[in-house]
Amino acid sequence: MAKISIIAAMSQNRAIGNQGSLPWPEPIPADWEHLEKVSKGKKMIMGRKSYEDKHRVSSKAGNYVVSSQSNLELDEGFQQVGSLKEALELTRKQKEVFVIGGNSLFEEAILLCDNLYLTEVQENFEGDTFFPEFDSSAFKTEYAINFAVSDESPYPMVIKKMVRV
Ligand SMILES: NC(=O)c1ccc[n+]([C@@H]2O[C@H](COP(=O)([O-])OP(=O)(O)OC[C@H]3O[C@@H](n4cnc5c(N)ncnc54)[C@H](OP(=O)(O)O)[C@@H]3O)[C@@H](O)[C@H]2O)c1
Repeated sequence: MAKISIIAAMSQNRAIGNQGSLPWPEPIPADWEHLEKVSKGKKMIMGRKSYEDKHRVSSKAGNYVVSSQSNLELDEGFQQVGSLKEALELTRKQKEVFVIGGNSLFEEAILLCDNLYLTEVQENFEGDTFFPEFDSSAFKTEYAINFAVSDESPYPMVIKKMVRV
């Protein structure tokens, strides 16, 4: 089975999305740079709404889009699946696979994941989609990088890698 990694960025009030896109107006450069570094060469799994986000994240290695609809027309490099479980079955021979959102996939994957890459933006943002509450005692923090406000990080934030104990 592939190692399952969740990668997400949430605000202080746990918002991950608002009106189909991120809670903050633009992707945060330091957060995207970290995401690109850790997920390079790894396949990604996302919900249909995250696929439709104008700031969509994707992998050159391949992407699975979870949807209950029949025959979605997807861009090249994206394959439709009916569930997270189906995507995990298709990627079982990979070393690591990334679940990149949104909420319902995080809810399901938080119980299964080996690694959790979590960016905590230390401000409150309006949101309609949230990162689930989870038992943090099930994980140990491998690293936590603090960012002060800069061009790369317009908000104070911390990027953590947590590994299931
Ligand atoms: N900050 C972050 O790290 C981050 C990451 C990702 C997304 N986001 C944000 O989160 C929002 C989107 O997230 P979301 O939670 O609303 O939607 P989502 O999880 O991206 O997509 C939901 C859709 O996925 C499909 N789906 C999910 N679970 C399924 C299941 N078990 N079986 C079949 N289909 C399933 C359904 O598609 P159908 O309706 O087609 O059946 C469902 O409507 C956006 O605002 C986006 O910007 C933020």
